[in-house]
Amino acid sequence: MERVDYRTFEASLERSAQLEKDLQSNPERFRVLTGDRPTGKLHVGHLFGSIENRVRLQNLGVPIFVVIADYQVLTDRDYAGDIAENVHQLVIDYIAAGLDPDGEKTFIFPHSHVPELNQLLLPFLTLVTNAELNRNPTVKEEIQASSQKNITAGMYVYPVHQAADILFCKANVVPVGKDQLPHLEITRTIARRFNTRFCAGNPVFPEPQPLISSAPLILGLDGSQKMSKSRNNAVMLSATEDETAKLIKAAKTDTDRNITYDPESRPEVANLLLIASLCTGAPPEVLAEEIGDKGASRLKAILTESLNEYLRPLRQKRQQLEQDPEYIRNVLMKGIERARQIAKETLVEVRRAMGMEY
Ligand code: TRP
Repeated sequence: MERVDYRTFEASLERSAQLEKDLQSNPERFRVLTGDRPTGKLHVGHLFGSIENRVRLQNLGVPIFVVIADYQVLTDRDYAGDIAENVHQLVIDYIAAGLDPDGEKTFIFPHSHVPELNQLLLPFLTLVTNAELNRNPTVKEEIQASSQKNITAGMYVYPVHQAADILFCKANVVPVGKDQLPHLEITRTIARRFNTRFCAGNPVFPEPQPLISSAPLILGLDGSQKMSKSRNNAVMLSATEDETAKLIKAAKTDTDRNITYDPESRPEVANLLLIASLCTGAPPEVLAEEIGDKGASRLKAILTESLNEYLRPLRQKRQQLEQDPEYIRNVLMKGIERARQIAKETLVEVRRAMGMEY
């Protein structure tokens, strides 16, 4: 069989393009697993960067499992905030953005409530070495960025737990940003080693493939770094239209009055054009041309109007969902029930493969 080298980003991109075609022609052959840490509400960067892609896959007919990685929140901070409230808000954002947990294709669940998934961690830990965990570049970056005085074992081990998130339901596709590729590589390694060691010729796990988002990276309103709530440069999906207008008004631009789309030398202006482009469907160059020498104030007016218009239905839905906490809870209960059902079956297979059926 052909071996694809997932270690080079270019190889992954190429493979992703092919995978994208396969997903469109045979959605029923796939199962997607994706997820987030519940650290707060979602913002525009999340929406355009990942959530809309999930909704798109869902609407192609691909079954989707969305894991809310509540245990993972504990890996890089001493104070995790109100996790229950964060989970609640995250589910509201998901549904408002178009994920549909009412059918039988999309399930949303917190991994803390799926014991059989968590059990997979123990055998999986024996399939990777400390050296492999120590050199994970994403973990290294998170250690650098962490506010913790003492880094815990959880920080090094969570990518193995993430493998359990992905493999418990035998997902074969994981939509990811670049930072998650090392984790997916560990997941693939674990799947491969498990199959080789315990059930050669009769694999229990697929080796899931990364689907690298073609969505552009959305910068914050300061234009210098990724949009992020903690950097205070984000427009939350839950913001009001007035709040949105105010934030955009304060966004950083530059001194050149003539608006052009030039991500390299004018990242702030280009980012605002990009968001307006995603909302209107017009290419950023065309928007820039239309604005011309009417300057940043015109650009901001256009962005405010188009973003508020784009988010209006989502925000209305969001408000409705806020009124119905019972429904949100039921969505989670349904997700947990389905995840547990699948995880139980997988755990039976895993124990059988390991010779631990008594
Ligand atoms: N590590 C991911 C993040 O920080 C969250 C996550 C947990 C995840 N388990 C996952 C993502 C499984 C994809 C698949 O955002």
